[in-house]
Amino acid sequence: MTFQAPKGVSEYVPPRSAVFEEVAEAFTASARRACYGRLEQAVFEDTQLFVRGVGESSDVVTKEMYTFADRAGRSLTLRPEFTAGLLRCVLEHGLHRGHLPVKVWTAGPVFRYEQPQSGRYRQFYQFDLEAVGTADPAVDAETIAVAWDAYAALGLRRFRLLLNSLGDAECRPLYRAALQKHLRGLDLDEATRQRIELNPLRVLDDQRPEVRAQLTDAPVMTDYLCAGCAAHHDRVRELLSDLAIPWTDAPRLVRGLDYYNRTTYEFDHPLLGAQSGIGGGGRYDGLSEDIGGPPLPGIGFAVGLDRIVLAVEAERRQDAERDVVAPLGSYSCQVFGVPLGDGAHRDVLALITRLRRDGLRADMVFGARGLKGAMKAADRSGASYAVLIGDHERAAGLVRIKDLDNGDQHDVPAGDAAGWLTERLATS
Ligand code: HAM
Repeated sequence: MTFQAPKGVSEYVPPRSAVFEEVAEAFTASARRACYGRLEQAVFEDTQLFVRGVGESSDVVTKEMYTFADRAGRSLTLRPEFTAGLLRCVLEHGLHRGHLPVKVWTAGPVFRYEQPQSGRYRQFYQFDLEAVGTADPAVDAETIAVAWDAYAALGLRRFRLLLNSLGDAECRPLYRAALQKHLRGLDLDEATRQRIELNPLRVLDDQRPEVRAQLTDAPVMTDYLCAGCAAHHDRVRELLSDLAIPWTDAPRLVRGLDYYNRTTYEFDHPLLGAQSGIGGGGRYDGLSEDIGGPPLPGIGFAVGLDRIVLAVEAERRQDAERDVVAPLGSYSCQVFGVPLGDGAHRDVLALITRLRRDGLRADMVFGARGLKGAMKAADRSGASYAVLIGDHERAAGLVRIKDLDNGDQHDVPAGDAAGWLTERLATS
């Protein structure tokens, strides 16, 4: 019997895992440039943390959690998202008693029991970034800019930023009541009617055409914002203009998790079909108190690394069709060593190691392989140069360097080979 991964688990193996790594690295680098520190947190938490943090009536909590009892009978849940656990971790380690805001990021697998399809998995990967401890709208803009710059660094050009404000404890209840009044007058099924009473904003997110058609006149939150929330929202938009980040006002944008207030946003990508959301986030100024902590405003986002991999692949495919030079994958090999004959393995390994220490990406043939098989491996590696060392080269104190793009060959003194290659490749 052979085993398969459980349904809906997203996995990456070479060579595609290089794109995954590139995507994760783009977000890490962007977060580091903005001085966010790394945090590594629990993969499973007390189930109540998510019930109280993410929200009792959210789909994530009611339908999608992987909840289990451990051997001592505690109810634990695999993290369906990072934010609630991250804030728990920040509070538990007392980071909020130091300099504010606490600026941290984390990344890894998260788990939701969803119906799997392209771009929607049960185990998927998020990069998550949070700034905890300030209500300053400048940090709202900063988080958006960190995500924006990472998408751009990956060469993505076709993503969009959708922006909304969900108000706060002062103005949201008025809006909620107005929305409920409007929705109760529509022709909706029983389950949706129940949702109107429990969580009316979620009805705005209903994707069914017959429901959407009835929602065109529904009131929008931005018409109900109190003075404080309106000023905050205007400020965020001014700052985004300063940072040359375009956005689309999306007054019907609601998020699937219940902790949001004020600024909320999503990034979407038009080439991904139904699962077009490549990231999303917003403010959660009440979350700390919801999970038993002190008043502590916060904002952050998470991006779906799997969907960004799909978006990068889709745009690069389109570029290739249009003959645009696509950005090179940064993890392909640059030099490939080919030892010919017994004694050459040591020389090739030494040279390859030296090149790696000089900062190049280098690989070689392992095991016994004929010249033909070895050159095939060199081509497959994506390297620009193959380095061949055989008995003849060893006796003469040379290495043969073959340019794999045009076939040119150069015999270079063994001691000069590393310098020769570094000079030509260090910038690529
Ligand atoms: P979220 O919108 O639930 O937000 O998820 C963030 C991103 O994760 C989505 O935009 C999408 O790219 C990806 N994603 C969600 N579900 C799936 C799935 N089943 N398969 C593949 N990718 C998926 C949050 O998780 C919030 N914690 C974000 C946040 C951080 N808000 C404030 N701070």
